Amino acid sequence: MADSEAYAKARVEKLANEIRAHNRRYYEQTAPTISDREYDSLYRELTDLEKKFPQFAVKDSPTRRVGGDPLKQFESVTHRVPMLSLDNTYSEEELAEFYVRIAKALPDESIPVVVEPKVDGVAVSVLYEDGKLRYAATRGDGTAGDDITQNFRTIRNVPRVLKGAPAIFEVRGEIYMDKAGFAKLNAERAEAGKTLFANPRNAAAGSLKQLDPKIAAQRPLGVVFYGTGALEGAKLEKHSELFGLLEKLKLPTATKWWPAQSVDEILGAIRELDRMRHDFAYATDGAVIKVDRFEQRKRLGSTSKSPRWAIAYKYEAERVETKLQDILIQVGRTGSLTPVAVLEPVFVSGSTVSRATLHNEEEIARKDIRIGDTVIIEKAGEVIPAVVAVKTELRTGAEKKFRMPKKCPACGSSVVKDEGQVAVRCINSQCPAQVKRRITHFASRGAMDIEGLGEMMVGQLVDAELVRDVADIYRLAVDRLLALERVGEKSANNLIAAIEQSKTRPLWKLIFGLGILHVGETAARGLANHFGDLSKLMDAEIDELERINDVGEVVASSIRQFFHEPHNREIIARLQDFGLKPTHEALESSAFAGTSWVITGALSQPRDEIAELVLARGGKVAGSVSKKTSYVLAGDDAGSKLEKARKLGVRVILEPEFRAMLSSE
Ligand code: IVH
Repeated sequence: MADSEAYAKARVEKLANEIRAHNRRYYEQTAPTISDREYDSLYRELTDLEKKFPQFAVKDSPTRRVGGDPLKQFESVTHRVPMLSLDNTYSEEELAEFYVRIAKALPDESIPVVVEPKVDGVAVSVLYEDGKLRYAATRGDGTAGDDITQNFRTIRNVPRVLKGAPAIFEVRGEIYMDKAGFAKLNAERAEAGKTLFANPRNAAAGSLKQLDPKIAAQRPLGVVFYGTGALEGAKLEKHSELFGLLEKLKLPTATKWWPAQSVDEILGAIRELDRMRHDFAYATDGAVIKVDRFEQRKRLGSTSKSPRWAIAYKYEAERVETKLQDILIQVGRTGSLTPVAVLEPVFVSGSTVSRATLHNEEEIARKDIRIGDTVIIEKAGEVIPAVVAVKTELRTGAEKKFRMPKKCPACGSSVVKDEGQVAVRCINSQCPAQVKRRITHFASRGAMDIEGLGEMMVGQLVDAELVRDVADIYRLAVDRLLALERVGEKSANNLIAAIEQSKTRPLWKLIFGLGILHVGETAARGLANHFGDLSKLMDAEIDELERINDVGEVVASSIRQFFHEPHNREIIARLQDFGLKPTHEALESSAFAGTSWVITGALSQPRDEIAELVLARGGKVAGSVSKKTSYVLAGDDAGSKLEKARKLGVRVILEPEFRAMLSSE
């Protein structure tokens, strides 16, 4: 075997393995470690090598599959028409070649195409039968995907019933998280010390993977439809007619698309789209060019993976140069110190950027970022600014290396690095930066919901030494507030009233508001439902905590540690002295407490609302039936889930019985 062949063989294997690993990270863990651009280039190299050396192509090569495997937890749905992927290109030349290729395949015909936005989200196939939503499924491996109906129903811009719809309408589109919602979600996650989503697409995928539709419902998801699978009872001849049908049925679709009939017109359209796409609510990473007439599509056909009648043109992520003026340290609620780049303001992907997170010291060292450097920045997923590289050739010698401070910039106490972790933390729990963040979190809408007690106000209160911990909030009085700058009588009175009102918030909100590491809203609800009052939770042992839904080993030990801390116990005692009386409906007596439900079939109320009834009473709702399921609530036309319940001997109840259970609560 010649050297070049031996190399090709080894390279093909290596690339296939690498791409498979990236696929798993992308599709299953929704945490990619490389950019789309890097992925596309590995993928391209592999397809080229496989073309040149077909004898070395590995069985089951990732180039022959679409997407990831369906997840275990969700039921599988077989698509009526397989969901293909698209070939993509970053080059205008290759785009031109695409059009020339189809023109050759269909000589002497005009070939109108449509250019539309490529939405950066998660592909979905939705089946409507006689206008009723039957299911929504992810692409999965292209043949079968996961049943995500419960989560799909929580998406706000989706109609549940279509008027005047074709008898069978399998409609295809993309679920996205809007840009503003994504930025907010990540900010909240950063605050809570959780890992961030790399981009809106990952955030959308992560949301759809939630087995608890309550969580998906809180995520700002939307959908854009752009295609059909099975269709009976309507006749469409062209893709451009689909837009009209979708609009008539009130199904969301692209607000802007371009008809084109030549390479020049196609290029004109993609450039125009590039200029306007930053104003869209969703992230757009390119344009899709599709042959308009279905009859022509049929003659062009498809490969096993993608149609020959369409191509995606991807925009390069917009990169701009700017100066790194300084590196600041931000102190989080739990004391984590994060370096933040202070940039000379610069306009990129639709907005002016002057800050970018640098994550941690290792990241800065890896990219060799120095203060004073000219840096290249781009927005990850078009939203979060990131420093991607340094122009070392422009260095003058005056640039300064960055060192993580040994002392916390906010309070001067020593910082520590937990073993095996990259994050550096200030361990002084009285650190004013941490105190401010903790109090802001306590008062935030998701927690104790004290209107008027935002970041600015908290900053003033802590700086004036009126408040040192969350209990101090309840000692505030109008005259003290009036001594602060920019606080008038009216706002002082309103704030005191809001503080008073917060004394009777639900228990779970208080638990969430305490800011225990790893205890998010869901775990807080679980804890409140299980213990019913704070003192029981405070004295709970690890094994009891671990038995609760949504509480694992790490969370349990974090809770234990929090309540072991005398300082925290003292704060809670003072909160109680100030008259805090969180409310809690006793769920222990509820027949729902601790039970696990699967809701299936058509019911008299949307499934997410029914799920809410179960959750509010301390039950859990899951997407698929297992031995652990306590009840399957079966509506009309319940299908495979009902069958599975019967097979596993899970108790099946119908809606009247369910209503009876509710009313006997
Ligand atoms: S058409 C058979 N149109 O991009 C072709 N896809 O990279 C079906 N996508 O798998 C796809 N916006 O998930 C089409 N306007 C659009 C799209 C779009 C986003 C996604 C889709 C596809 C992927 C390919």
